[in-house]
Amino acid sequence: MKKAMVSALLCAASLGLGMVGCSSGEKKVQQAVPKVGVSLPTQREERWVRDKVKMEQVCRDIGLELVLKVADNDAQRQDKQCDSLVAQGAKVLIVAPQDGKAAASIVEKAHKAGAKVIAYDRMILGADVDLYVSFDNVKVGELQGEALSKLAPKGVYVVLSGSPDDNNAAQFRAGAMKVLQPLIDKKDITVVLDQAIQDWSPAEAQKTMTAVLAAHKNKIDAVLAPNDGIAGACIAALEAQNLAGKVPVTGQDADLAAAQRIVKGTQSMTVYKNTRKLGAVAVQAALAMAMGQPVAMINGKVNNGKVDVPAILCDPIAVDKGNLDSALISSDYLKKEDVYK
Ligand code: GAL
Repeated sequence: MKKAMVSALLCAASLGLGMVGCSSGEKKVQQAVPKVGVSLPTQREERWVRDKVKMEQVCRDIGLELVLKVADNDAQRQDKQCDSLVAQGAKVLIVAPQDGKAAASIVEKAHKAGAKVIAYDRMILGADVDLYVSFDNVKVGELQGEALSKLAPKGVYVVLSGSPDDNNAAQFRAGAMKVLQPLIDKKDITVVLDQAIQDWSPAEAQKTMTAVLAAHKNKIDAVLAPNDGIAGACIAALEAQNLAGKVPVTGQDADLAAAQRIVKGTQSMTVYKNTRKLGAVAVQAALAMAMGQPVAMINGKVNNGKVDVPAILCDPIAVDKGNLDSALISSDYLKKEDVYK
């Protein structure tokens, strides 16, 4: 959205806390600027850094005041941070919850204070969430399952999933299982370990992968890794057994390190979710909501156990060696010189 357009919208409404000068012909008039609060779970995965940078940039471009906090994988801290965002006058909260269930209280408290809540990337469960901005997360898992089962149609599988308090983790797993379960039922695939990794911790994933390799005398044919952080950890464990590049491993997020591993041949694929687009879409939706305008781009509804939440869902893209350049480099998500360094 162009700055001029937002200024026009701002000039038409009286909102929020801050004030901005809007020119009306020669005359400058004071207008209210809506304040948006953003609460992210972490900055550990590179993708969350990209989300943050994009939201900050879009807010700057369109003249929205942004207050952003990072919860460092701590749901209680996130709850307190959101209280403070609302107390500081945020009219809309964009929240990527650390714990999907626990974050319901963030929504309740925000609503009591008259603020609206967008669940960002991860759904907030059991609450009257105003909008969900994310990807088709079941599809993410399907893309992982499809890629892995093509590379290893039969054999011994390790199935790792993300943090149990993150609703996405269950969605990714469900998507992958849509593809893998029929092969498990046919006994083409045997799953020797099916485990969630708390907080998506690479350290925990590496320990887990090291242990399962030892327990099965290195006879593992495929690893379903739910994101690139966990993929990297599993590949490090495989490397220690001289198996990196010999056992297919999935991923997600299009991290630079993952793209480098794909080029090297140690990681089979990743799933590209354009988090820059997601960040921009969320900020634009927040602006509309703060101004009491309808949100454009809604293309679905997702039930969160309490209500059908109107949703803007973007498409994930599977990336392997074959389309890495066109998907990630031509789109300027990653730089060629970094990937091929
Ligand atoms: C998920 C998110 C993934 C990944 C993971 C770990 O909720 O959708 O992209 O980053 O969290 O942070």
